[in-house]
Amino acid sequence: MMKILFATANKGKLTEAAEVLGPDYDVVSPADLGITEDIPETGATLQENSLQKAQYLHEKTGLPCFADDTGLEVDALGGAPGIYSARYAGPGHDSQANMIKLLKELEQFNDRRARFHTVVTLILADGQVHFFEGVCEGSIAHEKHGTGGFGYDPIFLADAYPGRSLAEVSKEEKNAVSHRGKAIRAMAAWLKSQ
Ligand code: IMP
Repeated sequence: MMKILFATANKGKLTEAAEVLGPDYDVVSPADLGITEDIPETGATLQENSLQKAQYLHEKTGLPCFADDTGLEVDALGGAPGIYSARYAGPGHDSQANMIKLLKELEQFNDRRARFHTVVTLILADGQVHFFEGVCEGSIAHEKHGTGGFGYDPIFLADAYPGRSLAEVSKEEKNAVSHRGKAIRAMAAWLKSQ
């Protein structure tokens, strides 16, 4: 069994990645190894941010590591909020504030096309770096729908599930089409091919 460190503090993401990678991998979090400090994330792109997180942990532990970074890219807003998705409404604001701000910004536009975009960086024990991507295409609803999921899910209508927001589909339905699900499955497929 190969121990692999996932740069996340999110239990849901950890479980999901462990399920996708399967029984050959022991997926652990920084907290499992007693690493509790904030991991730097100061890049200008999703790729830089995910690389920075994976590199930080690889240098610290020598273990194979992977990190993800996700942004919501809205066409009418030139790709915003993008890497700033988590803090779109400003520091200390939550998802509710982020969604309210996005709905307000989009009021003047007819084009509501958007996508979630994830970049995963994998660094192997020997330092080899590999990138994997996942995209979930959709559009921004005019109001919130549903209570499941997290982040922008209540206002994101994935093309794969017409008429329902990502907060109205099951966890399995979401994982099957999600940006992060696709990127992590791409990494898992690559690892298995090695
Ligand atoms: P992270 O890189 O996974 O931390 O994602 C950055 C931000 O993007 C999060 O704080 C959320 O606001 C948003 N986000 C990421 N993934 C999802 C998702 O699956 N659904 C809704 N929002 C998401």
